[in-house]
Amino acid sequence: MTTIILLILAYVIGSIPSGLWVGKLFYNTDIREHGSGNLGGTNTFRTLGKKAGIAVTIMDILKGTVATALGLLPIFESTNVHPLILGIIAVVGHMFPIFAKFKGGKAVATSGGILLGYNWPIFVLLIVGFLIVLKITKMVSLTSMILAIVAVIYSIIYYFSVKHDVPLIGIVLLIAIFIFYRHRSNIKRIKAGTEPKVKWI
Ligand code: G3P
Repeated sequence: MTTIILLILAYVIGSIPSGLWVGKLFYNTDIREHGSGNLGGTNTFRTLGKKAGIAVTIMDILKGTVATALGLLPIFESTNVHPLILGIIAVVGHMFPIFAKFKGGKAVATSGGILLGYNWPIFVLLIVGFLIVLKITKMVSLTSMILAIVAVIYSIIYYFSVKHDVPLIGIVLLIAIFIFYRHRSNIKRIKAGTEPKVKWI
């Protein structure tokens, strides 16, 4: 029973549409009607500015972290659901939120949050890598996809050099698949040379 409750809780946490709620509550704006139409931090940044963009990105990251942490808490010892499973369920909630007609974000920030909750050094490394690649490409979408591949490579290196963590490789691989799938429209724009670039880095 606890397992089912935890899985539902992880999905509900992931479903919180931070971008939609922050936009509607504080800016009277539905970010789905602006920019890329995506419910993520990037489109919030683009539509509502720096403050809202940072706030929504942090909230989206924390959804993954909190869901993953649920599986690490001693109070839920009676269940053997792996923390990474709870994290990935939160990502599914983020992509298909029950509170926003199942049209959500592109899995990037919430997936990062899983790594923050599960293995924070990987998260820190990926954030540094993200900023470096973003500085070069100026495209958040392309940077996200490149970092998804970097995370897979990193988890394989981690497996051979630190700990035989098969679930980590599996989940990071699944995340990469989700991220590429959710960026289909961005990939088309990148190929056409019309993907928007950020100016602030
Ligand atoms: O986190 C999503 C980002 O990689 C792309 O967002 O709004 O430019 O499609 P967007």
